[in-house]
Amino acid sequence: MQHVLVTGGMGFIGSHTVVCLMEAGFEPVIFDNLCNSDTKVLEGIARIAGRSPIFIQGDVTDSAQLDSVFEAYPIRSAIHFAALKAVGESVSQPLRYYRNNIGGLLELLAAMQRHSVQNIVFSSSATVYGEAEKMPVTEDTPLPPALSPYGSTKQMGERILQDDPYFQTVCLRYFNPIGAHPSGLIGELPLGIPNNLAPYVTQAAAGLREALTVFGDDYPTPDGTAVRDYLHVMDLAEAHVAALRFLDEATERSAFEVFNLGTGRAVSVKELLHAFERVNGIPVPHRIGARRQGDVTELWANPSLAEQRLGWKAERSLDDMLRDAWNWQLRLVNQ
Ligand SMILES: NC(=O)c1ccc[n+]([C@@H]2O[C@H](COP(=O)([O-])OP(=O)(O)OC[C@H]3O[C@@H](n4cnc5c(N)ncnc54)[C@H](O)[C@@H]3O)[C@@H](O)[C@H]2O)c1
Repeated sequence: MQHVLVTGGMGFIGSHTVVCLMEAGFEPVIFDNLCNSDTKVLEGIARIAGRSPIFIQGDVTDSAQLDSVFEAYPIRSAIHFAALKAVGESVSQPLRYYRNNIGGLLELLAAMQRHSVQNIVFSSSATVYGEAEKMPVTEDTPLPPALSPYGSTKQMGERILQDDPYFQTVCLRYFNPIGAHPSGLIGELPLGIPNNLAPYVTQAAAGLREALTVFGDDYPTPDGTAVRDYLHVMDLAEAHVAALRFLDEATERSAFEVFNLGTGRAVSVKELLHAFERVNGIPVPHRIGARRQGDVTELWANPSLAEQRLGWKAERSLDDMLRDAWNWQLRLVNQ
């Protein structure tokens, strides 16, 4: 079984990916400092996969801790999820974001090099495209200056990997992952007030939050609300298995490859809200507020390169995402 280091594997996308890796016959080694996750995730993973994954509590900015993981397991590849991801917080605490996201990446890469590990899958983000002029965006769409320190950590992370061809990199630009495992045993667990739309929607519907504020209904979009490309977190998780296989098996590839991961479907905030209410039969209290600084008008992917080269395509519908997100929220409330 191939051992795969999964930094940040206790988090939202990481935990779903760990399940898919175990089901696909890989041996994930989770390395996470739990700054935005909880060990309860391990129980959920174990119930789905039938056994507990390997978990080591540690920080990617700590080279000695990283060395001890590479010494303990015969790791062949790494998937690097570990990062701080709140855009607004990155504006107020930029150094913390650069230290964690860039410092952590550099320490990880140095440790990989010390232990002769070359394959890495890097979690990038659609945020690197900023306010792109033409939709949908392809991987060739030029990257404008980042809109936040968080966005710059993703652009810089990509650049660092691109500059060093020792590393065999698949860089994945995620659009907007939502939903949860269909069992409801793992899902998104935002600590504090959610920054993202979907967890706020489910918490507002469950009566745990005040009415949801829709940030702006005066955008130049069909219904005036911002437009994004939502994809099911299980589809996203499966893309990581495809990326590892691509690194192992593709005969024609460059040292650095980048792929958009989205559905290619543009969905507005209002459309998502109405779909949630229809699918789950529950109202979402909401009101219209001002635009939020840093939010772009619209952003959706052309995901065809991932289909051509990774053999990956998002299969699940918006209804699936919203049903699974609500199922997970209900489980949390009833725990
Ligand atoms: N969720 C999204 O909408 C989204 C979109 C685009 C890109 N991404 C990127 O995907 C990755 C995973 O995102 P997520 O939504 O699962 O986030 P998450 O916060 O749920 O998971 C990140 C995990 O990394 C851990 N972590 C953070 N810093 C660490 C450190 N220094 N050492 C060890 N562990 C550390 C956290 O404890 C957490 O468990 C991140 O790199 C994020 O920037 C997420």
